[in-house]
Amino acid sequence: MELWRFLLNVFIPDKYVFMIGIVTVVTLIIYRRHIPNKQPPCYGGWIPWLGCAIEFGKCPLYFIEECRKKLGPVFTLKVAGSRLTFITEPEDYRNFFTSRNVDFQKAVQEPVEKTASIPQESFHENHTRMHDTIKWNLAQSNLGPFFQRIRNKFNEGFHQWNKTGEADLNSFIRGTMYKAVLDNLFGDYVLPTSPEDDFKLLESHFVKFDEDFEDWSTSKQWLLNLLKNTIINMKNEENTSNDQTLFSKVVKNVKGPHAANFAMLLMWASLANAIPMTFWTVAFILWNQDVLDKVKREIRETLGNNNGKANSCELTENDLNRLPYIKRCVLEAIRLRSPGVITRGVKEPLHVKGYTIPVGDLLMLSPYWTHHNPKYFPNPECFNPDRWLSIDPERSTFMDGFVAFGHGRYQCPGRWFAVMEIHLFVVLLFNTFDITPLDPFPRHSPLHLVGSQQPETAMRVKYTRIIKDIV
Ligand code: HEM
Repeated sequence: MELWRFLLNVFIPDKYVFMIGIVTVVTLIIYRRHIPNKQPPCYGGWIPWLGCAIEFGKCPLYFIEECRKKLGPVFTLKVAGSRLTFITEPEDYRNFFTSRNVDFQKAVQEPVEKTASIPQESFHENHTRMHDTIKWNLAQSNLGPFFQRIRNKFNEGFHQWNKTGEADLNSFIRGTMYKAVLDNLFGDYVLPTSPEDDFKLLESHFVKFDEDFEDWSTSKQWLLNLLKNTIINMKNEENTSNDQTLFSKVVKNVKGPHAANFAMLLMWASLANAIPMTFWTVAFILWNQDVLDKVKREIRETLGNNNGKANSCELTENDLNRLPYIKRCVLEAIRLRSPGVITRGVKEPLHVKGYTIPVGDLLMLSPYWTHHNPKYFPNPECFNPDRWLSIDPERSTFMDGFVAFGHGRYQCPGRWFAVMEIHLFVVLLFNTFDITPLDPFPRHSPLHLVGSQQPETAMRVKYTRIIKDIV
């Protein structure tokens, strides 16, 4: 007889073992039935239905952090008829990303209906297929064909700038990147990225739509009409080189009449986060002289030919892999300016830290504040690309606690494309121009909760082209 069984028989006779078993099972059942139904601390302001919407709306990014300090790591805000429950500690995030009790589509369907006019039924019928089409096409192993095209488009964009001049850094980056990304994902000149006047109109409507300005619904309608007409033209011109773009693949996969609306989601998702992140990466580099020196040195030592500069037109994906310091700058900027919140809908009661979060709540998680948590990112305010040193630049991984792209089944399907395009843009920019900031480093607007942070003010720079061999 095994020792433990012998000891058990000596000290606890069989009938007691049986009784102890029964008592344990019954206790567990009773305990489970009586898990305290305590909801998280809640702040609802004093105005019925509106709740704390007014305080919240004034400065949402900082308001949620103040509430965390007052109410603790799990708390609920009542905002305009909705209950938003925030979880703020990374050890609880698996509840957000992988629990069966929460649902991505339940949380985003309504905002998507408002933003892109996709009715509930069409959303549920098409959403997962759209997500998977984008995920598959933009997987890290499939980025090759995008790389060459976008590199050429960036070079073309830089070429349109004078040899030397002053510019608002944001407009400079936006003008070049919008065209390059749209031509890349939607097809060459399929959208009005040229001539310049047509592009300016497209750009202004997209910016209004993205930033939720007063007139945003007019811009939404303008963009939807543009995409509807583009789809009609595309169907009339089968078998062109634009047949294989991500846009045409998304459109072909949408069942029913809302292909243009899903295309608008693709357009928004591909521009709204990546372009501000490019701005921040360049801004952080420019305002940290030692980082700027290292960036220039890495480009010179890794790519430089006789005149100390790489030929931008010949840069390859392998070359990018040999520029890991600049990639670390990109990841560090994304860490510091990541989206204010991401969300899931609670469809079964969810237990977190002894609280029960009821069905119907919107579960919220802030990548921005997670990345400012000193427990995970020591000295979090500091732009320190070297905190990413432990991450192999060629492997598809991020640091623990980094959630800028979300996680789980519906994690951002464009994340590898985003990192690649920003990395490439920054390398080409500093290889092509000498840039000097003329204004102080801009603060970020505290109004942006959904999506990455935007600069609060313009930032002028002086630029001088330092290579001749572009396009
Ligand atoms: C640095 C740039 C970017 C950031 C920080 C970012 C972040 C995110 C986040 C946080 C989500 C939600 C994930 C979740 O809730 O778990 C998301 C969704 C999405 N992203 Fe990105 N993203 C970026 C760039 C891109 C790019 C370049 C594309 C496409 C080319 C893209 C396409 C999408 C799409 C289509 C979705 C919605 C997925 C769905 O509805 O299932 N993103 N992104």
